[in-house]
This record gives sequence, structure tokens and C-alpha cells, in this order.
Amino acid sequence: MNNVNILVLVSGNGTNLQALIDAERGGRFRGGEDYPGGRIAAVLSDRPARALSRAEAAGIPVYTEEPRLSLGPAERRRELSDRILGIARGTGARLIILAGFLSILEGNIIKAYGGKIINIHPSLLPKFGGKGMYGERVHRAVIEAGEKESGCTVHIVDAGTDTGPVILRRKVPVLDGDSPDTLAGRIHDEEHIAITDAALMMLRRLGGDGDNNNRGRQ
Ligand code: GRF
Repeated sequence: MNNVNILVLVSGNGTNLQALIDAERGGRFRGGEDYPGGRIAAVLSDRPARALSRAEAAGIPVYTEEPRLSLGPAERRRELSDRILGIARGTGARLIILAGFLSILEGNIIKAYGGKIINIHPSLLPKFGGKGMYGERVHRAVIEAGEKESGCTVHIVDAGTDTGPVILRRKVPVLDGDSPDTLAGRIHDEEHIAITDAALMMLRRLGGDGDNNNRGRQ
């Protein structure tokens, strides 16, 4: 069975991307008798990001596609999403993983890749998700709400923000005296497990699909 090409979208440090790279290198995505393997065909960022040097160090092609600030917010999101769709198709991607990607995808790409785009979010969705809920803000809100546990969620991306069907969650305790930083660190460790487990689950799901498109990096 042909490998599934994966496009990973990033905006920041890229520790989740690194977990995916390490998993691929370690043979975790080699596939099985009844499901395909996966390979990271390309990494795309919407801004200069440390994640890109991680990809380059692993020999993975990188793209930087920044939002056009001259456009209004809605058109800016659509235009960037369409550019990313073009790159996804060009790399033969069948799975798109948002690993700390801060722009919001909209329009054609959601339809073209329906059910095949996943995102990782650092809270137990549906709690503490939605527009404006990213990074430190999530963890601060969790602590201020007095939550006893938090964690991370991997979900399918749909037309909403952090609203698609959940693939998996991993939980951590919120400890007395936690700062947004200490809580984020504890969750990050779980994210690295969650994102690779979720990628594997998606490869198994894609095993049933007919249109295995394998252009791009071999
Ligand atoms: C993670 O907390 C992820 O849940 C969120 O952005 C962060 C990215 O971290 N969407 P990294 O760049 O993978 O280290």
C-alpha cells in the first residue's frame, strides 16, 4: 500500500512537529497489512518559525506562506487557505496535520480535505477552545476557572474553530500553585504522544480510502 503523504502546518517552536518527525524516523508510521504508512511530505508555516529549521534538519521540504495583510480579515483567511490548498495538492498530501498552526483555515480546503485535517489544542475541548483561545491564554483561563484537570485534544478540523469531532484527548492534573507555564509544560509532554497516536489513527482510517495519491517527496 502506498504511503500517505502528510503536510504539517506550523507557526512556532515545532515540538509537536518534532514528535511526528521522530515517530516517522522510529518506524511508527511504517504502516501495516491493512493500512498505509505515512511520511511527512512537507512542512508549511504562516510565519518565520523555529519549526522550519527542525523540518530542514530532517530533510523535509518547507514552505512559508504568510497572510496578506493588505486584505480584510475574512478574505485574508480565505486567500491563505486557498494557497495552502494548492501546496497540499502539489505535495500529494492526503492528510494535513495542524501542529501549532495559528491561522484559521477556511473555505475550499475544508471541503477538499473534509475529515482529513486534524488539529491539536492544549485543553480538554470543548472547554477552553474557540477564537482567541491559544497559547498562554488557554492555560491562564483553565487556572482562573479553578479546573482540577486539563490536557490536550486532537480533533478533526471543520468549518468552526476547535469544534470538529474529537479523535482523542489526554488528561493532566492542574496542580496547586501551577502557573500557565508549568501547566503548559505538563500538557506539552502529553501533546507529543497525542499527536503521533492521532496521526496513526488517521492512517488506519485512510486505509479504507481508494484515492491514494503519492506524488511529492519519495
Ligand atoms: C501546542 O500547545 C498546541 O497544542 C498548540 O500550539 C502549541 C504548539 O507547540 N496548538 P509546538 O510549536 O508544537 O511546540
